[in-house]
Order: sequence, then structure tokens, then C-alpha cells
Amino acid sequence: MALLKTLPKAHARPGRPAPELIFGELWEYDPAPESADPKLKPRYELFINGEFVAPKSGKYFDSINPANEQKLAEIALAGAADVDAACQAAQRAFDQVWSRLPGRERAKYLFRIARLLQDRAREFAVAETMDGGKPIRESRDFDVPMAAAHFFYHAGWADKLDYVAPGRRVAPLGVVAQVIPWNFPLLMLAWKIAPALAMGNCVVLKPAETTSITALKLAEIFQDAGLPPGVVNFVAGAGETGAALVNHPIPAKVAFTGSTVVGKLIMRSLAGSDKKMTMELGGKAANIVFDDAPIDQAVEGIINGIFFNQGHVCCAGSRLLVHEPVAATVLAKLKNRIKVLRVGDPLDKNTDIGAINSKEQLGKITELVASGVKEGAEMFQPACKLPAKGWYFRPTVFSKVTMSHRIAREEIFGPVLSVLTFRTVDEAVEKANNTAYGLSAGVWTDKGSRILKMSTELKAGVVWANTYNKFDPTSPFGGYKESGFGREGGRQGLLDYCRLI
Ligand code: NAI
Ligand code: MG
Repeated sequence: MALLKTLPKAHARPGRPAPELIFGELWEYDPAPESADPKLKPRYELFINGEFVAPKSGKYFDSINPANEQKLAEIALAGAADVDAACQAAQRAFDQVWSRLPGRERAKYLFRIARLLQDRAREFAVAETMDGGKPIRESRDFDVPMAAAHFFYHAGWADKLDYVAPGRRVAPLGVVAQVIPWNFPLLMLAWKIAPALAMGNCVVLKPAETTSITALKLAEIFQDAGLPPGVVNFVAGAGETGAALVNHPIPAKVAFTGSTVVGKLIMRSLAGSDKKMTMELGGKAANIVFDDAPIDQAVEGIINGIFFNQGHVCCAGSRLLVHEPVAATVLAKLKNRIKVLRVGDPLDKNTDIGAINSKEQLGKITELVASGVKEGAEMFQPACKLPAKGWYFRPTVFSKVTMSHRIAREEIFGPVLSVLTFRTVDEAVEKANNTAYGLSAGVWTDKGSRILKMSTELKAGVVWANTYNKFDPTSPFGGYKESGFGREGGRQGLLDYCRLI
């Protein structure tokens, strides 16, 4: 770390704000890139029946590093015939091996997978960051350890399934089709695969088209763990592959995380079938700050709530509802805080905000932000420099936002915060619930009774109190309204992977 040469020069530049306002610009760090080798292969095949196999179509697509737009690897594109082979393999594995193993044997595999992932944690973190664009600090400290934690947690359940639904017995469903998004590629995979396997189901999973690499790397771990062939299969590709998978006759259940638009499409196409479904869709969470909240902590929570993972988070606290008496203070502190967020190379350990996952997503964020300006909200962005290559977006705070603005209603899925104010508890609840979504919310107040009242009245699957974006495998996660249905994590998550008998 080096003190930036130019403290006096910085101050001397004409038009610079007073020193206390630029405190964050005084320091510049030397680059500190994470150096672990991600051990990428130039080409990743499909993972079907325990083996890496070329796609029947012979087609491949590129996976790009969003931080510099360079190609990382090519990925096999699964067509309908590959999806069929994967579903058949999963069904065979289910009938012949997996559903017959006692839970304590399945647990051993899950433990092994968790341990092997821990052994290769740094390698996976670097691969996740390069493929998806998230800061290494997050993939290293959050995504990979949390993914391992989900395997550990569900390993613990596999021999205790009699306690999932007290008084009832549980049975696996069979083959489950799982489709996941690009914002937490490895973690969403662990959320879905670990409970499915613990319960005795077999899996065909499709990772998102921009982030397939860590799934296919995990397949190497499945091989090393000796997981019986066909228990988990990976088919890579875009929407068409996903549609072929969810509509295939074999899967008894479809578990989807992604956009509400695609969720609805899948629900429509499965209507009338007897497939079970769980849907984890979009969000437009309210982070609600009362005047008695510890303001500095709340500001950190707001920052973490929306700028974490570039705002590529379905439960991101994208709407800040702030109590009028403290609105000006909170806004001023927020602006000061985002001036010192470091946007840039995701592999640098000092980076707070990495790359936007794809050019399409950057386009969507840019368009929504432009609509905010056009509709009359007041935009603040720090003057940070963005890398010349790659897809980046400055952290953005909108004030003077009203409920009718698109930025207050639509999921932006980027580092963009809309600030609204309220005067009473009832107004806060009303504004928070005035959305088509209902995945999560945050409440910042010193009063326990108010937290209890808010958590009862907020129509959100998760309500964080005096914190934000905290996760644990024991804690169920899921939504209300257009945020979807079903839960992932905890005992409730397991219930969504079984039949009660
Ligand atoms: P998406 O919903 O299109 O993609 C999610 C997954 O669904 C991907 O694996 C994709 O290949 C697959 N998919 C797409 N069409 C499908 C179909 N017809 N049948 C089966 N699977 C299909 O999300 P996208 O386009 O990447 O992002 C668009 C917006 O969706 C984002 O801007 C964000 O607002 C929201 N989103 C929400 C997520 C969440 O965690 N709730 C995750 C990703 C995106
Ligand atoms: Mg990529």
C-alpha cells in the first residue's frame, strides 16, 4: 500500500471539493491480484453419466471474462439429444443406485464433495471471479465457503431424514431438473444439488450460459469423490437447453432460479403436468432505516445490501426507505461512502465492485438508469475511473425517487440504489410492500418491538434486522408474490425435494 503521491496536488486542483469530502480519494493501493491458478481447461465438455462427453450437436460456445472481454474457455452446448441422455442417465442412477443407498452412505459422498471443494477453494474462487466478474474477496470469502457449507449441512441431514417432517416419512422424488442463473454460479448450484442428493434424488442441472465453468470444475470433484455415475449431470447452454430440460418427461421436479419472466414461462409450459416446481425469481427489496437506527452501521448495511456482487443479487436492498428526520444525513453519508468504493479488476483483493456479468446486463442497467434521470430522479455517481476494457458500472445513488419511477419498481440487478423517504411506520410498510416482488427486506431500528412488527407486516420471505445479506445453510430462503415459491435451505428446503408418505 502506498500513500498516493499527491495529497497536496489533489487538494490544489481547481474545483476540488473540500478535503473532508475527498477523504476517500487520498489513498491508492498497489495492485494486489489473487495469484492462485484457476486451472482452466481450454474446452469443457458436458458431464453426463459420470463422464465428460462431447455434445451430440458438435457445437461449442465461448465463456468470456467480463473483466477484460477475453475468452476463457469454450463450453459444450447441450442440445435436446444431450439433455435426453443426461435425464436417462439420472433416472438409471436413481433407480439402480442412489435411491437404494442408505442416507448415511449418501452423506459420505456429500461430506467428501464439501471437503474436496474446501481443498480447492482458492482455485474455485479465482475461476468464479474470472468467469462471472465478482470481486475475489466475495468469491473467496462468501461464495466458495458457503457452497461448501451447503454440502456439509446437507450431509448432516442425509441420515436424519426422519426428522424432516415429524410424524411422516419422506421419499425422494426421482430426477430433478435444475436451472440456475449467473449471479452465484457455484453457490446456487450447491443450494440446489446438496438438498436434492441428501434426500436421495438425482440431478440434471443447467448452469447459466455466461457462467458454466465452476459447475464443470465441480464435476471433476464429483469424479474424485467417486460419486456414482449419473447421480449429477451437467448440461450447458442457454434458454433453449433450459427449456429442453424442464420440459423433458423424466424430471419429477423443476427447481428454477432466475428472472420472473422466464419463471412464468416455465410455469406456463409445465401447467397441467404433475411436475413439482420451486421458483426463486426476482426482487425489489426495501431496506428500511428508522431515525433511531445506528446510522453508520446502517450505511454500511445499505452499501453491502446493494453494491455487494455489483447488485447482481435477487435479494439486493435496491430500494432504500429512509425515515425523513434522518434522510439528509443518511444520504450525505452514503454519498461519501460510495466515493471510496473501488471499482475495477475483480481479481484484485482490494476491489469492492467488480465487473458486470455480461454486455447485455450492462445494457439493461444503463437503460434503467437513463430512465431514472429522464423521469426526474436525482442521480449521484462518484467520479471513479473505470477500466478501459470490460463491462463496469459506477455505483449509483438516486434520490428524489417516487414510487411511480421505473427505478423504484423494476429489478435493475446492478449497483444502483433508489432512495425514498417515509414519515410513519405504516407508510414504510405500505411503500415496502408496494411491489410485485417479495423476496427480502431490511429493517434498521433500535426498537425490538418495531422489528417484530415490521417482520410480520412486510411481505418478504427474508427480513434482516440491523444487518443485510446474511446467509446460512440452516436458514430457509425464498419469496412471496412474483419472487416465487418454495424454500431453499434448512428443513423447509428439504421438504421441497421429497414426497411425504
Ligand atoms: P434468465 O432468467 O434468462 O436466466 C436464468 C437461467 O434460465 C439461465 O440459466 C438461462 O439460460 C435459463 N433460461 C432462459 N430461458 C429459459 C427457458 N425458456 N427455459 C428454461 N430455462 C431458461 O435471466 P437473464 O436473462 O440472465 O437475466 C435477466 C434478468 O433477470 C436480470 O437482469 C435480473 O433482473 C433477473 N435475474 C434474476 C435472478 C435471480 O436470482 N432472481 C438471476 C438472474 C437474473
Ligand atoms: Mg463468463
